[in-house]
Amino acid sequence: MTRDVLLINPVAEYSSRLQQQEQEIHSLTAEIESLKNPQSLGLSSHLDGLREENAKLKYRLNILKRSLQEERSQCSKTMMNINQRLQEIFGEAIREAWPDLENPPLAVTPNQQAKFGDYQCNSAMAMAQMMKSKGLKVNPREIAEKIQQNIPDNELIEKTEIAGPGFINVHLKRSFVSKLLTNLLLNGVQPPPLESKKKVVVDFSSPNIAKEMHVGHLRSTIIGDSMCRLFEFLGYDVLRLNHVGDWGTQFGMLIAHLQDKFPNYLTVSPPIGDLQAFYKESKKRFDEEEDFKKRAYQCVVKLQSKDPAFIKGWNLICDVSRNEFQKVYNCLDIQIIERGESFYQEKMIAVVKEFEAKGLVEMDEGRKIVFAPGQQIPLTVVKSDGGYTYDTSDLAALRQRLFDEKADIIIYVTDSGQGTHFQVVFAAAQMIGWYDPKVTRVEHAGFGVVLGEDKKKFKTRSGDTVRLMDLLDEGLKRSMDKLKEKDRDKVLSTEELTKAQHSVAFGCIKYADLSHNRINDYVFSFDKMLDDRGNTAAYLLYAFTRIRSIARLANIDEVALRKAAETTDVLLQHDKEWKLGKCLIRFPEILQKILDDLLLHTLCDYLYELATTFTEFYDSCYCIEKDRQTGEVVKVNMWRMLLCDATAAIMAKGFDILGINPVSRM
Ligand code: ARG
Repeated sequence: MTRDVLLINPVAEYSSRLQQQEQEIHSLTAEIESLKNPQSLGLSSHLDGLREENAKLKYRLNILKRSLQEERSQCSKTMMNINQRLQEIFGEAIREAWPDLENPPLAVTPNQQAKFGDYQCNSAMAMAQMMKSKGLKVNPREIAEKIQQNIPDNELIEKTEIAGPGFINVHLKRSFVSKLLTNLLLNGVQPPPLESKKKVVVDFSSPNIAKEMHVGHLRSTIIGDSMCRLFEFLGYDVLRLNHVGDWGTQFGMLIAHLQDKFPNYLTVSPPIGDLQAFYKESKKRFDEEEDFKKRAYQCVVKLQSKDPAFIKGWNLICDVSRNEFQKVYNCLDIQIIERGESFYQEKMIAVVKEFEAKGLVEMDEGRKIVFAPGQQIPLTVVKSDGGYTYDTSDLAALRQRLFDEKADIIIYVTDSGQGTHFQVVFAAAQMIGWYDPKVTRVEHAGFGVVLGEDKKKFKTRSGDTVRLMDLLDEGLKRSMDKLKEKDRDKVLSTEELTKAQHSVAFGCIKYADLSHNRINDYVFSFDKMLDDRGNTAAYLLYAFTRIRSIARLANIDEVALRKAAETTDVLLQHDKEWKLGKCLIRFPEILQKILDDLLLHTLCDYLYELATTFTEFYDSCYCIEKDRQTGEVVKVNMWRMLLCDATAAIMAKGFDILGINPVSRM
């Protein structure tokens, strides 16, 4: 799988120039040293020339290094990924100390316990292992010392300490963190620049026509949308696709039934409000009536040949479902383009031909199957009745996304139960040479099942599947109850109250899903998600409005805050200020991690940590000082107001990526 790294330009450009220069010096020095006996070779003048050139080069290199540092300390407009920057620095140190060591292991992680420093470089231990395998016995502590001695001049490290077997603990400079925060306040939360604009296809939501959209689709919708939001924020070109199940034998059955029940459907739109019931009826007939079954098959053939009357019937049926899906998307503010299985009808024909032409298709009891390397289960590309399958449409869809959409990254968000299906599809696509996983990232982002509070599959009391609109409505009702319980209806206007109700209800449903590791099953509980204590959207939304209100209560508007950011340094002297500052600047590396593993709960955990770190700060650092008697504001500690503002900015961006819509009053 390819890794997407957010570059910190123009630093990268400078670094590579710098590296080139260093290599030049390195080879120059080697050349000089090889001239052990210059006189005898009559090369002393040449050596002098070389030395002179070398000195010039070093001089140039120093200028370059200094300007690089200046550039960095001026801070570019975008946010810096500290972890990545430290990796660069330690990489440079290791290269400097061991110029010939190929691919040295680079490991920098944030420190869990602040007393040991802010970040930690763990390369020494891995390097000792590496050297040992080459027959060199070196103590990792010695390696750590050598790395430490070779750390280049930089803008962010205050000091380093070696601990334990060879950990290098890194303490960041307060002035540096402060500058990053000023930068954040002046430019807003800007993503690190991208190396190149990449195209991402996210296949998510994807319910099936004529069937109920269920909680599994809800998970896919929430997780997929948030992934898209992340990629969009980072500047990728994102195509959000709804791969709805709108093709296959069941449509023959539905159309045959439609013809019987509403024979004039071509002129009058039939009232199939309850498509589920309609589906059940037609399925019953399909199973029981031989004639009907035959006719249903004929309908499939007609539909596949795109006969207008049949297309019309099919469209009518799709529309009923489409309207239902759209209600859910409207509630949750989901943008998505419908491109269902039917879109790939012709492409499926071509794909089967392509596999056949390459001799990759086998016959198995009338079916056409494809075995992919390393996969136990074959794909069925053509059924014995000649029809195509879920496998065929996914092969065709993958091909279209690779070749027509020219996607660099393709992500499928479905339940983990479909893991094997995608694994085989991806393996077959690689086998036929459609893509190289080292170049194109094609990934199934699976998720666990939704459970009820009884830890059993999520169902209604009567054992039916829960209708999503009913679920969302219940969320609305419960969030209103909660707001009234807190007497918010007495403080807020009707409009504000409704806004808060929607924000809390849908925010909580989304957050409950996103804050759990998607791989695991998760228990759906309104009580838990609406609790305003703990890691919930309700807690974060309240925390956010509180932070926003601090400036409002002190009568400081946005213009004043901005002015202050230009002139006031964000002081980080108090322990809690320092802790908050460091937490704030970790945002880019959190996003980088999610980009790598597509696990959004990391962002939720981070936002929760940020909110609690903020509370610690707010509890021990006065932002505004008031007269005890009159309640009048006597002093505003502006740099702390700026810390509040930066916290709100990061939280707002975090909410945005999670698809949560905060309100200013609740
Ligand atoms: N319609 C499928 C279902 O409900 C999900 C489709 C996912 N996307 C895909 N390309 N197979 O399970």
